[in-house]
Amino acid sequence: MSQGIVTVAYIGASIMFILALGGLSRPETSRRGNFYGMFGMLMALIATMIGIVSDNYFVLFAGILIGGSIGLTLAKKVKMTQMPELVAILHSLVGLAAVLVGFANFMDHGTDLIGVDKTIHDVETYLGILIGALTFSGSIIAFLKLSARIGGKPLLLPARHWLNLGLLVAAIWLGTKFVDLSAMGGGTLPLVLMTIIALAFGVHMVMAIGGADMPVVVSMLNSYSGWAAAATGFMLNNDLLIVVGALVGSSGAILSYIMCRAMNRKFIAVIAGGFGTSGGTTASGTDEEAGDIIALEGAEVAELLLDAKEVMIIPGYGMAVAQAQHTVHEITRKLRDKKINVRFGIHPVAGRMPGHMNVLLAEAKVPYDIVFELDEINDDFPNVDVSVVIGANDIVNPAALEVPDSPIAGMPVLECWQGKTTIVLKRSMATGYAGVANPLFYKENTRMLFGDARESLDAVLKNLD
Ligand code: TAP
Repeated sequence: MSQGIVTVAYIGASIMFILALGGLSRPETSRRGNFYGMFGMLMALIATMIGIVSDNYFVLFAGILIGGSIGLTLAKKVKMTQMPELVAILHSLVGLAAVLVGFANFMDHGTDLIGVDKTIHDVETYLGILIGALTFSGSIIAFLKLSARIGGKPLLLPARHWLNLGLLVAAIWLGTKFVDLSAMGGGTLPLVLMTIIALAFGVHMVMAIGGADMPVVVSMLNSYSGWAAAATGFMLNNDLLIVVGALVGSSGAILSYIMCRAMNRKFIAVIAGGFGTSGGTTASGTDEEAGDIIALEGAEVAELLLDAKEVMIIPGYGMAVAQAQHTVHEITRKLRDKKINVRFGIHPVAGRMPGHMNVLLAEAKVPYDIVFELDEINDDFPNVDVSVVIGANDIVNPAALEVPDSPIAGMPVLECWQGKTTIVLKRSMATGYAGVANPLFYKENTRMLFGDARESLDAVLKNLD
């Protein structure tokens, strides 16, 4: 395949990836967006395999076979609720690839170039390895936290900001040493030292972030993995990798910004760490001090719903665990048939990944026009007769607004307690992801429906006729 055809295929693939991002920005067009992405990736792979790779086909196909089989097995096995941790571990592989390509590049071609070209190449290699190592170790910690293999409690080392600053200064100093030494054919030591520093920084950065702020970290690591891919593109002189890396890097950065706004956090403050704890205690005291709870049965909840005119459904992580979205849709349909206005209130960080609830509701075919973002409906709660909170906890926690020293203080939440009655479906009194107790359960107008969300909703559905 001539270089011209490869370039045309790469431009075509880039356009497909841009269309994919455009499509993925709305639930209605997301399926189409996915197809564009898959088609673009196929074009890119074929063009690279035929046009760029010229030998070592055995290694190439062996790699595709092994990697492809692992990917296929994982994709088949993984549950929807495990997606965030899968994404985190996949980000770590992008980071690792950038580190390996960087070292291979340094050892293979380090001495081919001279003058400014060599300096630019060295800086690309150095930055590629730095971002790659940071992405790699940070994503591994994110994976361990999201899969609950390690606790979500932030690790707050003394003088951690100074430690971060020290690591940054050391990385810059080692960078200048690397460029100097590399010009004379050396540079391995500063490169290895910087890699160790970047790995340590990745671990420290994510370890210092508490439960409720993990969404920002996940999207930030997503962005880093894009920049790591772009850096690999520079090292390999591959334009498509640069474009794709920049697309992932910048869309991840925009997502991080959106997440920060949703959590009412400053980006730098999240990176510096220390928000959120997982102690499971509440600033408002113990359970006994918090007050009594009122528990209902499925039939009683059905009665409340049938008496209502305005119903707001607030789904959270527990709906995903229970796979209750189809029953939720059935209930919605029945209530709407009875001329009851049913709407959905979606918190930007509900569940465990951006858009988690929207994906589940779309899968269950809940009409898009009754699904609203927090900003759109939060002021409507005083007019709501019944709010049904399905396996959600942190996103409806009044402590975020009422308890100034709460780990989630300042985070906007869905203010369902402003409505007439709130029904909370969950299995126990356990805390949510951020580990903060929830005063909502003890409010006068709150009722609890205990049990697995799907079973509880089945009981409600049975009593709606
Ligand atoms: P959570 O605060 O985690 O609360 C979920 C609740 O669901 C739990 O309290 C749990 O209580 C209940 N639950 C679990 N399984 C259930 C089941 N089978 N049936 C019924 N209830 C069940 O979830 P949320 O309100 O959606 O908030 C999301 C949290 O995750 C936030 O803190 C957010 O920062 C964090 N987070 C979000 C993301 C993104 S991007 N969305 C990524 C990482 C972290 P029981 O155990 O008592 O049943």
